[in-house]
Amino acid sequence: MSKGVTIWFTGLSGAGKSTIARIIEKKLKRMGRKVEMLDGDVVRTNLSKGLGFSKEDRDTNIRRIGFVCHLLTRNDVVAIAAAISPYRAVRDENRSLIGNFVEVFTKCSLDACVERDAKGLYKKALAGEIKGFTGVDDPYEEPLHAEVVCETDKETPEQSAEKVLRKLEELGYVTTEELAHAS
Ligand code: ADX
Repeated sequence: MSKGVTIWFTGLSGAGKSTIARIIEKKLKRMGRKVEMLDGDVVRTNLSKGLGFSKEDRDTNIRRIGFVCHLLTRNDVVAIAAAISPYRAVRDENRSLIGNFVEVFTKCSLDACVERDAKGLYKKALAGEIKGFTGVDDPYEEPLHAEVVCETDKETPEQSAEKVLRKLEELGYVTTEELAHAS
């Protein structure tokens, strides 16, 4: 019996959402689970193509991702969402819609994200070339009750992924045997 669940990653750009999500995706697939990943960067090239970064557009993006996660989860798939999802209210809306919902906060200081700047966007945002960049001049509302907090400026992606998998086990979404099989 495989129970569907949505693993919802939230956090600043560059905080490690996709990196940790990919590790978990691989391990869950190794357990024989059906997994689908919805990454903000990818979703914005298709399902949410044309949307920008106003509050309204971000909320629409997050509701769309949430809706797809809802469909997948009720069909026993593990849906993994990795989008900044800066607004608490819409994340909580998705939590209510989906039910089987595990929120993972990739907690990382802005300084560390700026230091990494994998996409070079913080540099542009700090120079004022991009307006309304999350964490720079646009809000990010931290989760108050995330099931997992990954302190990605203190732990490795593997350690963070392990924390998430343990929580999935604790909540009954994966069995101890499955977990042993994946490691
Ligand atoms: S969300 O706010 O709607 O959840 P999403 O995760 O889909 O955002 O997209 C974020 C990605 O878009 C960032 O990682 C970055 O690469 C890019 N991006 C471009 N402009 C912005 C901006 N103004 N704020 C945040 N991210 C931006």
